[in-house]
Amino acid sequence: MRWILRIKMKSTATKLADFKDSIFGVIAKLAREHNAVNLGQGFPDFDGPAFMKELVTQKMNEGHNQYAPFPGTPNLRTEVSNYYKKFYGLDYDFETQVTISVGATEALYLVITAVTNPGDEIVVLEPFYDSYVASIRMSGGVPVPVTMHAPDFHIDKAELEKAITPRTKMIILNNPHNPSGKVWSREELQMVADLAEKHDLYILSDEVYEFLLFDGAKHIPMATLEGMKDRTITVSSAGKTFGLTGWKIGWICANPEISRVCRLAHQYITFSVSTPMQEAVAEGLKRLPEYLPGFVSLYKGKRDLFYNEMKKLGFDYTIPKGTYFMMVPISKKTTLSDVDYAMKLIKERKVATVPPSAFYLKSSEGSKYLRFCFAKKDETLRQAIANLSPEA
Ligand SMILES: Cc1ncc(COP(=O)(O)O)c(C=O)c1O
Repeated sequence: MRWILRIKMKSTATKLADFKDSIFGVIAKLAREHNAVNLGQGFPDFDGPAFMKELVTQKMNEGHNQYAPFPGTPNLRTEVSNYYKKFYGLDYDFETQVTISVGATEALYLVITAVTNPGDEIVVLEPFYDSYVASIRMSGGVPVPVTMHAPDFHIDKAELEKAITPRTKMIILNNPHNPSGKVWSREELQMVADLAEKHDLYILSDEVYEFLLFDGAKHIPMATLEGMKDRTITVSSAGKTFGLTGWKIGWICANPEISRVCRLAHQYITFSVSTPMQEAVAEGLKRLPEYLPGFVSLYKGKRDLFYNEMKKLGFDYTIPKGTYFMMVPISKKTTLSDVDYAMKLIKERKVATVPPSAFYLKSSEGSKYLRFCFAKKDETLRQAIANLSPEA
């Protein structure tokens, strides 16, 4: 139902005038309306680990229920700092270089707003997580897309360098990559790092899927490349790693000056992030070494199940090495665009996916794919496959 304005009011902000409902909301609504199996939005349809829920209850009972210090609880910042050291050999001082946020999404906004002046150009590698472009625009910046070319989602060095101008401030990349499931190689990261050094740019490295890796793939944080730690701002989140996306605990690891400015923005946007959740995540991070093998094998089982069944249905593509997404080519199945095919599948096959053209500004490559999320119960994945099979 359309809302009818009955009184005369001043207009709302023009900077938001072109914003639309995100594709996830649109698909989720359609999926509900058509009773479709939802493989669209990127979160598990099953619960997170029991030990994390016990930890948060314990933390509440211990009295961790008032405002946390605005940069984050010292325990969580210490544990974030500890795991970067333990897993990657990176030193971040928890007092000055680690900031806790409401999920990675707030972290991304804080970083973008902290570095962007009106008119500054920020290079985004498409397909991208859609909040990057929204945050750049809200900060008065100009998103400059560079395409990661399918089917292997590689970057062309000449195209990237051509996109860099004297107004460029930062390059945003996502590794492991949503929606393709690509895990960046050292050579690929080095190419971007070299250009960032040459043109004196920041790199915002969104690494929320850092632990969701399969078949021996290795995550290389951009900040570990020689000379890159100070110009790289790393964002990650507990949501994906613990399968608890509703907890919304994220973090930024950055040099002290970037961290200081992010904290200034955070102080007035959010002020303070949920205390018991932070304390539980701090404990959870200590347990990563024991927790991660089971976590990875759970998602690997889902990836293999879904991929093998999709192959049997005639979808032909390379199995992704990271994240819980697959970009599935559709051109052998239909002449429709991704958006029209996604709508058709929701209505006629009762399966919801995300049309990835929403993640591109420039290229039309996304219109030949659909993004499937396999972070779902096996029965959900099997139902989706049954609905997609020709005899359904
Ligand atoms: C690439 C990427 N970055 C950031 C986020 C947001 O993470 P959070 O839920 O911690 O805000 C997501 C969530 O889907 C994502 O896919």
